[in-house]
Amino acid sequence: QLPIVQKIEAKRQAALLGGGVSRITAQHSKGKLTARERIALLVDPGTFREYDTFVEHDCIDFGMQDTVVTGDGVVTGQGQVNGRTIFLYSQDFTAYGGSLSRAHAAKICKIMDKALLVGAPIIGLNDSGGARIQEGVDSLAGYADIFQRNVLASGVVPQISLIMGPCAGGAVYSPALTDFTFMVRDTSYLFVTGPEVVRAVTDEVVTQEELGGSRVHTTLSGVAHRAFDNDVEALARLREFLDFLPASNREAESVVRRHTDDPADRADVALDTIVPTDTTRAYDMKDVVRRLVDDDTLFEIMPDYARNILIGFARLGGRSVGVVGNQPLVSSGALDINASVKAARFVRFCDAFHLPIITLVDVPGFMPGTAQEHQGIIRHGAKLLYAYAEATVPKLTVITRKAYGGAYDVMSSKHLRGDVNYAWPTAEIAVMGAQAAVEIIFRRPTDMDDRVREYTDKFANPLPAARRGFLDDILQPRHTRARLIEDLASLAGKRQTNPPKKHGNIPL
Ligand code: COA
Repeated sequence: QLPIVQKIEAKRQAALLGGGVSRITAQHSKGKLTARERIALLVDPGTFREYDTFVEHDCIDFGMQDTVVTGDGVVTGQGQVNGRTIFLYSQDFTAYGGSLSRAHAAKICKIMDKALLVGAPIIGLNDSGGARIQEGVDSLAGYADIFQRNVLASGVVPQISLIMGPCAGGAVYSPALTDFTFMVRDTSYLFVTGPEVVRAVTDEVVTQEELGGSRVHTTLSGVAHRAFDNDVEALARLREFLDFLPASNREAESVVRRHTDDPADRADVALDTIVPTDTTRAYDMKDVVRRLVDDDTLFEIMPDYARNILIGFARLGGRSVGVVGNQPLVSSGALDINASVKAARFVRFCDAFHLPIITLVDVPGFMPGTAQEHQGIIRHGAKLLYAYAEATVPKLTVITRKAYGGAYDVMSSKHLRGDVNYAWPTAEIAVMGAQAAVEIIFRRPTDMDDRVREYTDKFANPLPAARRGFLDDILQPRHTRARLIEDLASLAGKRQTNPPKKHGNIPL
């Protein structure tokens, strides 16, 4: 063999070992896989094509010239997931703690550019100590180069971050810009400033987990969309998740279709009685969704945050759809700030990537009270309204029970260009509940019960809205699945555009 061939091979072998055997052992002892092991689990076997294996940093400060790891702490390339191309980077904590140098950032930027050029998702597996401290402003520039690409790629190709270790400081803003951020329980965290800085500045004493662990971000902050138990589970679920998404905003909706053996005309009789006749009694909207969609395909997003609204991906007749549903089990399904923001971003994702939106409505209104008003429910609630109103994808709505007040308008109503709007016989579409309405109109009437009955007959049923054409039909619940699947087929050819503009000004 030529000496150069041997040298190349030696470099390649060195790159495969990253920071070396002892650091790989340390990584494993924390319950974490290495960057390459993770890639092997994410992509279809034998499909990973690595780029920039031979990249090395050129920093000569602080003794860095003596510590050169081939590949510079990140593995980048392309691969297939269930036969579809993705671009990915996987940070290698065993090399410089996965910290981001100029060269490391350039590798990430290269695959982002490539993904944008061909129209394929960008997946980041993050495990990094942040900016490479020895490189100073060069590494900060590297972050900004990535952020700029995240923003330009937004709405063009799906971007997903899986946080599998530390992610702190400037590093957090790339995941924050991507469409979905998933975390691994107990081994990953995200924060702008770590516990030591927090203590120095605010005197607060917190652990990393309390400050930015997966529980915090999936239940309190809404920064992360799902958490999984370990690396293996997280990567398996990510593969499953990717199957719902188109490769880019150029890909026709039909490409995201999968064969299903679940009959389109499957009539689930349990749906006929799932909504309790007592309108104050709760039921689980997730149960409704599961019975409507193809066999158990619901992939929930943010299941533990703002649980008064349910969002997720599913398949109906093999087609990938986004599902939004008010959840009567939590706060009677009322819309508050967190629920509005959670659903609004989801609706915008679906719209950007041509995924039809199925909306299941049971909403008693917006959440009253000073807490919500003072924090700006008007501004935040408007986000959901804006998202639905601007969306041009097929919008299919089923009112299962309450659709009261402004929340009726917001939840993908006919008036916001809903394509098909249905109600079940249990629907009540009114400005407010009958009792409250009568108290306002008549103060304290002596014939309260009669007045309530009168209001109920007049508004708390689907007929007034159906008579005005605000509903296209009133469905027997068991037939809802068949109708939605038929509608998705006929709406596949829907083309709608909004007036030309640089971009809208969604209330932020
Ligand atoms: N720049 C350069 N090297 C870094 C680094 C960074 N930002 N973060 C970690 N490393 C190196 C460490 O020096 C260490 O090198 P060594 O093995 O040669 O000693 C190696 O990566 C592993 O880090 P270590 O601190 O031993 O791992 P840990 O699991 O105990 O702690 C962190 C992980 C991320 C909490 C810790 O490394 C840390 O606080 N890093 C700095 C975070 C930061 O402030 N970044 C800048 C913000 S943008």
